[in-house]
Amino acid sequence: MCGIFAYKGHRNNAPEIVIKGLKMLEYRGYDSWGIAFKTDHALNIHKQVGKIGDFKISDLKKMTAKSQLAIGHSRWATHGGVTQMNAHPHCTEKNEIAIVHNGIIENFTELKKILIKNGHIFKSETDTEVVAHLIEENLKKGLEKAIKMAIKKLEGRYAILVISEKEDVIIAARRGSPLIVGVGKDENFIASDIPAFLEYTKKVQYLDDNEMVIIDKKPKFIDLKTDKIIKKREVPIEWNVENAEKGVYPHFMIKEIMEQKDTICRTINQNGGGIEKVVESIKKAYGTYLVGCGTAGKVCLAASYLFSKIAKKHINTTFGSEFPSYHHFLTNRSLLIAVSQSGETADTLEAMEVAKEKGCKLISIVNVESSTMARMSDIIIPLKVGPEKAVASTKATTAQLAILTLIAYALAGDLDRGKQLLINTAGQINDMLNPRYEDHIKTLAKKIAGVESMYVIGKAVNYPMALEAAIKLQEVSYIHAEGFAGGELKHGPIALISKGTPCIAIVANDETKNDILGNTIEIKARGGYIIGVSPENNEIFDYWIKVPDVGDASPIVNIIPIQILAYHLAIMRQNNPDMPRNLAKSVTVK
Ligand code: AGP
Repeated sequence: MCGIFAYKGHRNNAPEIVIKGLKMLEYRGYDSWGIAFKTDHALNIHKQVGKIGDFKISDLKKMTAKSQLAIGHSRWATHGGVTQMNAHPHCTEKNEIAIVHNGIIENFTELKKILIKNGHIFKSETDTEVVAHLIEENLKKGLEKAIKMAIKKLEGRYAILVISEKEDVIIAARRGSPLIVGVGKDENFIASDIPAFLEYTKKVQYLDDNEMVIIDKKPKFIDLKTDKIIKKREVPIEWNVENAEKGVYPHFMIKEIMEQKDTICRTINQNGGGIEKVVESIKKAYGTYLVGCGTAGKVCLAASYLFSKIAKKHINTTFGSEFPSYHHFLTNRSLLIAVSQSGETADTLEAMEVAKEKGCKLISIVNVESSTMARMSDIIIPLKVGPEKAVASTKATTAQLAILTLIAYALAGDLDRGKQLLINTAGQINDMLNPRYEDHIKTLAKKIAGVESMYVIGKAVNYPMALEAAIKLQEVSYIHAEGFAGGELKHGPIALISKGTPCIAIVANDETKNDILGNTIEIKARGGYIIGVSPENNEIFDYWIKVPDVGDASPIVNIIPIQILAYHLAIMRQNNPDMPRNLAKSVTVK
């Protein structure tokens, strides 16, 4: 949540660089934005409500002179409404410093009361402004010292960037929210995520929790606990600019859906014995917990069915936010496997922290290899799908499913069979994702674009896929959608069905088929409009979306047409599928 980015270097167009970089991070927050830049020791601030993507760089020329140092922020509001005042950067009365922040200062109310008593005047409703005033209190001691003193008073999670009128540096610090330094030649960058500076450098250094970095000619890293300078390794990045751009597609969401033609193969091509190490860890563990949030949480639930069926193994699953309540069962022989695209989801990170405290082993199945989750883990299984920028997760979801299917097969001693199944599935997805297929789903989207509610049912491993389908439909189409286990309908939810209510039935060609078809007949009898997602047509379906018959990999192929449906419903309802209202890509607040 919230994208932050800063530049210091030899180029004279720092504000432009920062605005361009922030546009690349817009998926992290898009209700308002702002920049602060230095010209001849003066701080200039510009902030406004709205999407930074809508701002034309050409307008910038009107408001900026030459500048080699700038910081910026694209906001996802937490404290205070979406107003220009609440947009970042924040300053104090004297305008001596400017600060941008990602995270939440949990004790900001108490701090604010004290600061007001001390005579500080607040302009915004944000928690961030408190940090600005705290820094100002000790600014006479120098910016570095003042920030260190302020940070000591903060509770919660933060990534902050600060610049001052007097010093030609950017100072950053983090605890719990991501910050990555991009190292260039005579120039350096710092951002919440790599795409912001990918155009300029592919060398990064990671800022870890409780560390500070001073961005000058060379980044200087400081351990905030010991106050000692830390040496950091420069790490090369594999991603390229094209990966992080829309290319020929109108939106990232459809680009990322279509990329699933290739991503499954890339995902399962894991070298280095990671899968085997995970299998060993599961075998040794006294209790394995699969933890994720939102879509990743649904993937974990699907994996519990796969582990049960393929490997005859019980795995516990829970959402990141719920996991800490199970801490009573954890020992140093428990294993936590975190599943995530971003590797920065605060609730999943908290689950990992709780597990770490109990001495558990940590594994992450994660897309962003530079993320906090990856760096906290004993073993990392990367998804290798490249940057996923649309808020709605698509290619990362199917990659997570593929990895977990592979692990289930490996656990059963049949890794090769698992690989073969997934290679075959990847080939089938490639055939499936053609323009005719998309058009067929578009026709359905046209039929149902005006509905108020829709439902999705599935059974066994496809029950979590029904839940995931509902998330996809909710987040981009804003249609009220809910997923159910087919068998649960008759215990209550069937009362929701009336004439014409669209209901997607995910019907796999396995032992669950007759049951789920039976549930579908019950819906049809109440007037429901049945959309079957299935390898075979059935007379009960009013609309059939064909999917390949891929056995245990069925969740992967079943969710893809629903991703496409959600996308086209969003377009038809004039929503921006890449930036749905109220959401952000990376949920770095609890
Ligand atoms: C997915 O479409 C959602 N945007 C959301 O549920 C997401 O999966 C969740 O926030 C977890 O994110 P992560 O995978 O980056 O941890």
